[in-house]
Amino acid sequence: MRIAITGSSGFVGEALVQSLRVDGHDIVRLQRGSGGGPGTARWDPATGALDQQALGRLDAVVHLAGENVAGGRWNATRKRAIADSRGPATTALCRALAALPQRPAVLVSASATGIYGDRGDELLDEDSPAGSGFLADVARAWEAGTEPLRASGTRVVNLRIGMVLDPSGGALRRMLLPFRLGIGGRLGAGRQWMSWITRDDLVAAIRFALRRAELRGPVAAVSPNPVTNREFTAALGRALRRPTILPAPAFALKLVFGEMASALLLASQRVQPRRLLAAGFAFTAPTLDQALAALRRG
Ligand SMILES: NC(=O)c1ccc[n+]([C@@H]2O[C@H](COP(=O)([O-])OP(=O)(O)OC[C@H]3O[C@@H](n4cnc5c(N)ncnc54)[C@H](OP(=O)(O)O)[C@@H]3O)[C@@H](O)[C@H]2O)c1
Repeated sequence: MRIAITGSSGFVGEALVQSLRVDGHDIVRLQRGSGGGPGTARWDPATGALDQQALGRLDAVVHLAGENVAGGRWNATRKRAIADSRGPATTALCRALAALPQRPAVLVSASATGIYGDRGDELLDEDSPAGSGFLADVARAWEAGTEPLRASGTRVVNLRIGMVLDPSGGALRRMLLPFRLGIGGRLGAGRQWMSWITRDDLVAAIRFALRRAELRGPVAAVSPNPVTNREFTAALGRALRRPTILPAPAFALKLVFGEMASALLLASQRVQPRRLLAAGFAFTAPTLDQALAALRRG
């Protein structure tokens, strides 16, 4: 397949490109701004403008781009960048893709479990209503942004991605240093549910979504075994053989991280991958201990 990918330089994108290339797929990295060269095409998230000539005839698009949500304390400028790079940028991209002489057959577009807001112990899946709050609003607009392409007949999968785990980046890498130093601990009361997926399983889920025609609309990309923050903390401590006795109180997290603490660190989402499982997707690491096994060996 000839597949264009936005956000290809990111934590997930790099692993996806590598996995697809190994299997001989023809990859076009959709790149913002200057740069370029073979295997790339320019796109502008603000306008959707695409370099049609460099794109050629596409079979599929994977849309991963977006300002990093955990990249720093949220102020008005960062919140605007997080929001603008999702809803409006996705709408612009999908309008441009819909206007191509030959539309791609499928778009797999990132979304996030943040769409559910803060939901306590409630069991959530793709049929659960969206929640409230900044990230829920951002994700709702992000998914709605794919509508122009869906309306023109392309199969669209909105992957509601949970916390992506791999020691080389993302949330886990940020946690490793304090946990290795023995100063890791639960966040707040630790009762909030964390829906997670290993990066390898996410790459496999994206590839599964690209080829499985029955998948369309929201698809939860999370392992079948979400855990509470308390359980997560204990499992990471076990994997690293370190104590985890120092909790980070909610008020301190809010002081340091501001609004981001409530939305990202303390919010609870207990999500089940109902559609992936129904379609027969097999997780390589369905449990957290399996996901963290590499750390134990390291
Ligand atoms: N990692 C997680 O735990 C997680 C959880 C839920 C959802 N997701 C979502 O999955 C997608 C991929 O995640 P990731 O961890 O790979 O993210 P990432 O490492 O932050 O990479 C995202 C990529 O998006 C592009 N980008 C950055 N700022 C942008 C902006 N302002 N406007 C447009 N594009 C921008 C960059 O690629 P280029 O420079 O190549 O354009 C960047 O490498 C993201 O949309 C993320 O929100 C991730």
